[in-house]
Order: sequence, then structure tokens, then C-alpha cells
Amino acid sequence: MTNNTDETTKDLAERGSNRSHRPNSAAFKEFMGSNWGERPPLLTETAPVAQYLASRHHEAGAPFAGERLVIPAGSLKTRSNDTDYRFRAHSAFAHLTGLGGEMEPDSVLVLEPVEEDGQVTHQGVLYFQPRASRSSEEFYADSRYGEFWVGARPSLDEMELFTGLKCAPIDTLKDALAKDAGLVQLRVLPQVDATVEALVNEVRVQAGLPAGADAVAQDAALVEHLSELRLQKDQFEVAELQRAVDATALGFERIIRELPRAVGHRRGERVIEGAFATAAREEGNGLGYETIAAAGNHANTLHWMDNSGQVPADALVLVDAGVEIDSLYTADITRTLPVSGKFGPTQAKVYQAVLDAAEAALVRAGEPGCRFRDVHQAAMEVIAQRLEEWGILPVTAAESLAPEGQQHRRWMPHGTSHHLGLDVHDCAQARQEMYQDAVLQPGMAFTIEPGLYFRADDLAVPAEFRGIGVRIEDDVVVEADGSVRRLSEDIPRTIADVEDWMARIWAQ
Ligand code: GLY
Ligand code: MN
Ligand code: MN
Repeated sequence: MTNNTDETTKDLAERGSNRSHRPNSAAFKEFMGSNWGERPPLLTETAPVAQYLASRHHEAGAPFAGERLVIPAGSLKTRSNDTDYRFRAHSAFAHLTGLGGEMEPDSVLVLEPVEEDGQVTHQGVLYFQPRASRSSEEFYADSRYGEFWVGARPSLDEMELFTGLKCAPIDTLKDALAKDAGLVQLRVLPQVDATVEALVNEVRVQAGLPAGADAVAQDAALVEHLSELRLQKDQFEVAELQRAVDATALGFERIIRELPRAVGHRRGERVIEGAFATAAREEGNGLGYETIAAAGNHANTLHWMDNSGQVPADALVLVDAGVEIDSLYTADITRTLPVSGKFGPTQAKVYQAVLDAAEAALVRAGEPGCRFRDVHQAAMEVIAQRLEEWGILPVTAAESLAPEGQQHRRWMPHGTSHHLGLDVHDCAQARQEMYQDAVLQPGMAFTIEPGLYFRADDLAVPAEFRGIGVRIEDDVVVEADGSVRRLSEDIPRTIADVEDWMARIWAQ
């Protein structure tokens, strides 16, 4: 090889402009900046979530009195070459700003330590790239921020009105971070935006503060706290979760309507996936996670997201799907539907066992003093009992439920519940004592999702069970009085109700 590597590298870098060339003449620039009509304001009122932000900021900063907390939205992620994924803000940023749409890549929330009426607290300042004037090159030439490319962005004033937060241009962030650094300690939410993290570390080094590897533990404490902050949802969040669940209900209706077409299609599971995706995009921001559309034995692959299979007319189809609404709260619902509209005898037997487990978990969750982990235990007691009744368990249910047994978990290897909110597996960085070991508290929102999975090649079960997989997943919230409400109670789930639901939709 005699290629000059430097030449080749330079040449490759320049090939990004292969597709077309923008004119660069002064005449063109001047002409592009002129003769545009008045633009209507983009944001004209305060968002309902704005009234919750001050208290969220106060709570977010409570363990970190006097410290500056840096919470990036995150940046665009490359899908391939020069195409990006649709932007989705980090959930901590979404929670503390109420923002989430596609206008916020590279934004940063800084919680400034302040004293208000003698009280030590934090005040949020939002740094973002405000809309540029039409006489700027950004207007027509910047594919990341420019109005010609991604639409009009809010101005500083509009964003202040919308969020109720003090706002500032992103190019003032560095000076703001450096102000009094040293006297003021900095923490940053790590692994969200490498540029912001580098900026914080630069400021830390200049100020003689621990940086890089020496600051990992202090930043991890911020991650943990912001995750735990979301364990108990406020009124606004519960209402948003309900909206996500209601949008998801519409998605399931659309699936049922499309089921007959799915049966005849060579990739019927994709028909189901597509039907839900349409609803998710029409009703919300999109999917909270990749849809699982698993017909027959595919239901026994817990994360079957390939969805490339056929949908046999006599099978069950397990659909695990959730709409993420515009505020980024997501539902997480599973229904297992009989493709024909009627459950067969063994299908019904398995389905009823899973439903009984779900009911037992729901009842346990509403009992005083119930810990998060007890919800799972209640479901497992029913699962083990049914497996014993059917002669499937190699030991008694009691022996299986003991820690040294657990044979029943062969047929339900996943957990029964996880917190739900802005993330489908919300609050995942919370400590065990705040999550699994915690007594349920008002405002906690979580799933109840027992299942039974009999793989087609499972020789430990009678042949009639093989190839049947069932999960029923509901989203619930703990009320102020400790009772537990199913946000998804309007999505049918008993055998009779599911059959009626399908018949009703098909009769329309
Ligand atoms: N859909 C993911 C889950 O159920 O946890
Ligand atoms: Mn789930
Ligand atoms: Mn799910």
C-alpha cells in the first residue's frame, strides 16, 4: 500500500459534503436573511407542570446544600453515519424541567444553591440554544439547530414563560459553572452528555476540586438521589401515567382490530407491532420501549422483540407494549389474547392461574405495611400452588417457595413488579432499601406482571402445556389511603372480559 494516509483521512472527512453544496456568496447570505414575514410566537402559556418544579428542585438539592448540580438533557445519538435517533431527554432532566420534546438536545439544567427567605434551597436555571435570528447563518445552514432544518426553536423569553424557570443561552454555561467554583462544589449527572461532563471536570480542575475518577462517587450520589426522588409520584405524574395507560388502551384496541389481518400475513407479529406503533405515534411521543408481539411459543422468549413470526389462528398472542406520551411518561401493559377470540381449555387454565396470581399480588399490595418485594411473593405463592395442583412441580409448593427450592421459577423467571414513570423501569438507581425492601408509599406507581411460560421443548410439563406462554401486566398506583388502584382497570383482563372485548371490536 502506497496510499498517503494523511491525504486519505483528509479526503474522507471532506466527503461528508458529497451530497450538495450550499451557496456561500455574500449576495446569497444577505438574500436568505431578508424578506421573511412575522413569526407567530411558539410558546404562549405556562406549562401545567411548571408549578411542580420549584418543589422538585428543592427536594433534588436537599442532600447537597450549597452545591451546584448539573443535569444535562443529553445529546443526539448517532444511529449510523450522519443520521441520528430521534432525541429523547434523560429522565432526570425531563423530571426537573417538565421538558422532553425534540427541541432540547444539548440543554442543561443547573440547580444553583441559593438562600430564599432564610431557607437554603436550589433554583433551577435552564441553559439551551435559543432560536437564532433569520439573519444568522444558523437559520438556514445549521442542520442541528437551524429553523430551516428542525423548525423554529423557542426564544429565551418563551421558554421562561413556558417553564417558569430562569433561562440562559447555552454558550454562557461555562462561565456560570466556573462562578465561585471552589467555594461552590459541583456535581454532574454522569454519562449523559460527554461535552458537559468534560466542561464540569475542566472547571473542577481549575478550581482545585476533585475531578474525573476522584469525583465518581460524589456524582453517583446525585444519580442515586435523582432516581429515588421519583419513587413517589406527585399528582401531575399520576395523571400523566393515566394518560399513557389510556393511550395504550387505544393501541390494544387497534391491535385487536388488525388481528384477523395478522393471521393471514407471513409476518403477522409485525402487523401487531405496527398497529401499536401507529397508535403510539398518533396518541403520544412514541413507544416507551420496544413492543413484544409474541405468538404461540415466541411468548416464552421473554424479550421477543424480533416480531417476525406468523400468528396461528389457534394460538395465544402475548403483547407487551406501552405508549410514551409527550411528557415522556410511559405505560407498560401486557395482554395475552386468544387469536381466535376464544381461549382453548388449556390456554384458559394457564391464563386463569396467571390472573389469580395478579389478583393476589394486587390484594397484597393494598395491605398495610406491604413491602415492594412482598407483591412478588404473593404472586409466586399462587403460581407455585397451581403448578403443584397440575402435578408439574417436582416438590410441594411450600418446598418450592422456600429460598432453597424455587423450582417454580423455571416457569416464571422474571420479577413481578418494577417502578414505572418516565422510564419503563423507573428509579432503577435507587438503593435496595428504598426499592425492593421499602414499604409501599402513596404515589408509588409500579407494574404487576406475573406470567407462566411453558416452552415448546419443556419435557418437564405435560404436552398440552407446551408452547403456551401467558403474561398479564397492569400498572398500579398507591393512593393516599394506602389502597392500590389499577390505572389499567379499563383494559379488559378476565377471560370473559377479554373475549367480549375482542368480539365487540370485531363487530364494529
Ligand atoms: N416491557 C418490559 C417489562 O415488562 O418490564
Ligand atoms: Mn414491566
Ligand atoms: Mn411490559
